[in-house]
Amino acid sequence: MRALYINAYGGPEVMQIGELPAPEPKRGEVLIAIKASSINPVDWKVRGGEFKFITGRSFPKTLGSDFAGVVERAGAGVAVPAVGDRVYGITALMLRKPGAQAERLVAPLKRLRRMPDGMSFELAAALPVAGLTALNGLRQCGDLRGKTVLINGATGGVGHFAVQIAKARGATVTAVCSEPNAERARSLGAAVVIDYRKQDFTRGNVSYDVVFDVFGHLKFPAVAPVLKDRGAMVTTMPGPSLIARSVWQRVVGGKRIILGSMRDRPADYAELERLLADGSVKPVIDKVVPLAEAVPAYTALEAGGTVGKVVIRIA
Ligand SMILES: NC(=O)c1ccc[n+]([C@@H]2O[C@H](COP(=O)([O-])OP(=O)(O)OC[C@H]3O[C@@H](n4cnc5c(N)ncnc54)[C@H](OP(=O)(O)O)[C@@H]3O)[C@@H](O)[C@H]2O)c1
Repeated sequence: MRALYINAYGGPEVMQIGELPAPEPKRGEVLIAIKASSINPVDWKVRGGEFKFITGRSFPKTLGSDFAGVVERAGAGVAVPAVGDRVYGITALMLRKPGAQAERLVAPLKRLRRMPDGMSFELAAALPVAGLTALNGLRQCGDLRGKTVLINGATGGVGHFAVQIAKARGATVTAVCSEPNAERARSLGAAVVIDYRKQDFTRGNVSYDVVFDVFGHLKFPAVAPVLKDRGAMVTTMPGPSLIARSVWQRVVGGKRIILGSMRDRPADYAELERLLADGSVKPVIDKVVPLAEAVPAYTALEAGGTVGKVVIRIA
């Protein structure tokens, strides 16, 4: 099968496209003919060896977390989904599972979701990691009606979902992004846009019910002064000090820290699909490229400036 893979950790130069043996489904797994996969930062972080204490030293490693495709064969003990069913989901790249940017992928049943009728493979592949992360971060903030929500990193993969979901839930949204993407942020539903290169919102005099740090580099002491009394900072990058601080904040009460990692329960997919179906969320696909152009697509995304998602068409 053709695949995007690496034989060593490193920058974009270690990525190769070539032939690898097709995998075989074991008991409880399904073999999927992959049609599309979108790129997420976790893919290039794994490629760079950022999690090598978990991802280990066995190569070749295929890349890609999000997938959409067709069930080609079911392993023993699998009755549903059936051969020919259109499915999408996430492969746990960080936990040494095979990547999705390949013509075939084996995945356990719990990682699969039937695609809604009429949804394209490209759209389905753009949803899981980014959409479910935005959903999970905001879900933990409770009722957002009448609240003020700031999204830091508002036009990227996770951020562009978060702006739309927060707006759909009744919040007034402030988007923090680079100036060229300001108009896009407004069209997603932001009432106020801040250019992070010109203005540091943590030093401003406006306070928010929620600051969702999608970009993931803010520290709680910097954000706390612009949170309202019972406000919450949500982060997509829960490092040890933020995790410890989140426990402490729960003990002392007041302002909260929410660890907004991705969650992929069936109810989460159902909620995301409902938001798409009723038009509250319109995913933005910046580009669809063939597998042969995956390496320049990664390089462009890593350089920043992209709006929404970039999808690789596999077949
Ligand atoms: N824990 C989890 O489960 C989980 C799940 C998904 C994602 N994540 C993490 O969340 C982060 C964002 O993911 P993503 O898919 O949204 O990435 P992305 O598509 O690359 O988007 C990143 C966004 O951050 C913006 N940005 C860059 N520099 C900034 C700054 N100094 N201040 C504010 N915003 C800035 C970018 O804007 P410009 O391009 O306009 O500069 C871009 O919109 C990544 O680190 C990813 O690994 C974690």
